[in-house]
Amino acid sequence: MKAIELIKPAGRGEASLLEEIDLNRLPRHVAIIMDGNGRWAQKRHLPRIAGHRVGVKIARQAIETCARLKIPALTLYAFSLENWRRPQAEVDFLMRLLREYLKKELPSINKNNIRLLMIGRMEQLPEGVRKDIEAAMRLTSKNTGMKLVVALNYGGRAELVDAFNAILDRVRLNGLLAFRADEETISQNLYTAGLPDPDLLIRTSGEMRVSNFLLWQIAYAELYITDALWPDFSREKLLEALLNYQQRERRYGGLGNGRERGKSD
Ligand code: FPP
Repeated sequence: MKAIELIKPAGRGEASLLEEIDLNRLPRHVAIIMDGNGRWAQKRHLPRIAGHRVGVKIARQAIETCARLKIPALTLYAFSLENWRRPQAEVDFLMRLLREYLKKELPSINKNNIRLLMIGRMEQLPEGVRKDIEAAMRLTSKNTGMKLVVALNYGGRAELVDAFNAILDRVRLNGLLAFRADEETISQNLYTAGLPDPDLLIRTSGEMRVSNFLLWQIAYAELYITDALWPDFSREKLLEALLNYQQRERRYGGLGNGRERGKSD
């Protein structure tokens, strides 16, 4: 019932999902590979960009749902390093769409205490896009609510390369001959430094791949792959993913259920 106050459900399905979800056991970080905009449009004999337009609306809805549920962090894979291989017109459209989204939604993001972060190789983005992003990050930098992380010009291997080079630079600069890295050193030098690792990775449109997304950070993430194309990924479908996550037993390589060595039954 408390959940219904948080989000006004649109249909009976949503209402009962909200009743079932345990608000105290939500993932601390949800990461989403939003795939299938192009296929959604092609199925309707529409240009691919029509799929991206609806995709933005669905992204907005996912952001709102996660923020209202007080999920601490949400990362959306908006544009990969590999996406530059798409036709120039589609790339230009995606960049324009992102700027449009920022212009339109930034006041509401800010009002809702959401902090916007971007991960990826920012320096390679067109100047206008980069400036808008930097301004949005500055504006929301003091916000204490959900962290909305948009992966843009992002690649997981490139992120690791950048992290290793940042570590090497520091070692050289400070002459740290005996320095040895550990997992913490690497985590702290990723674009996602300071964020919890994703507990749940959602991928739409049925592909069984992680597509170079958050490779280090998803080591123990629960994977949820749905056949729904991103523009069809309704709020009900997102709530289903959250409920499915809560029904899993997470063991992190142990036995779970308190059966590890050194734990009494
Ligand atoms: C995948 O569909 C989607 C993308 C390449 C990214 C576009 C994402 C959006 C428009 C959402 C915008 C997000 C924010 C934060 C505003 P696809 O083109 O790969 O589909 P296909 O696999 O069917 O071709």
